[in-house]
Amino acid sequence: HPSCKIGPSILCADLSCLADECSKLMTAGADYLHLDVMDGHFVPNLTFGHPIVKCLRPKLPNVYFDMHMMVQNPEAWVESMADAGANQYTFHVEATNDAPALCRKIQEAGMRVGVALKPGTPVDIIVPYSELFDVALIMTVEPGFGGQRFMDDMMSKVQFLRTNFPHLDIEVDGGVGPSTIDQCAEAGANMIVSGTAITGAADPAQVISRLRSSVEN
Ligand code: DX5
Ligand code: ZN
Repeated sequence: HPSCKIGPSILCADLSCLADECSKLMTAGADYLHLDVMDGHFVPNLTFGHPIVKCLRPKLPNVYFDMHMMVQNPEAWVESMADAGANQYTFHVEATNDAPALCRKIQEAGMRVGVALKPGTPVDIIVPYSELFDVALIMTVEPGFGGQRFMDDMMSKVQFLRTNFPHLDIEVDGGVGPSTIDQCAEAGANMIVSGTAITGAADPAQVISRLRSSVEN
């Protein structure tokens, strides 16, 4: 399957110096950055939106920004995120009643298309429009907070997608770290999000290299 990329989530980083935190993670060996947008409605927490992304972009000109949109009405932010410099726009299928139309809108705005599934959402609902997205994001925790426990029963969704869609990018998010990444890679995930395991470590670079050695063999 496609080669494995590691994308730290900056949710639990020091958000008062976000650009520095992002630069440090890239220097520490990250392949991309996973940016968690929360609106206090789709999930019971708040983070940031496109104005922050727009400020971050010139400071990190070549970094791939993976936007994880944990928001109601995800249709609303497509143009502003594209304008802010987002590379990937991943929306939750639970938050829209026309996922295919939203996929097309994101693609037309020039971003890679991601569809995210909460733990309780069955994976087969995205099959009918599989040609419209680039990435499937399988949540391995309930979205909303960093530092939760990895749900290993989500690996069956990853396996299903990898078997049926060999070229699809499959991303896992939530509770992924050195002790859980092997299950993700074995199931077929190739975009690995890891938050507190990296940002909460004394030496983030060491954790990223441990994660990388687990998936490259
Ligand atoms: C949870 C977010 C995740 C989270 C990952 O709602 O989508 O990206 O920040 O953090 P950890 O790896 O600590 O679970
Ligand atoms: Zn996320």
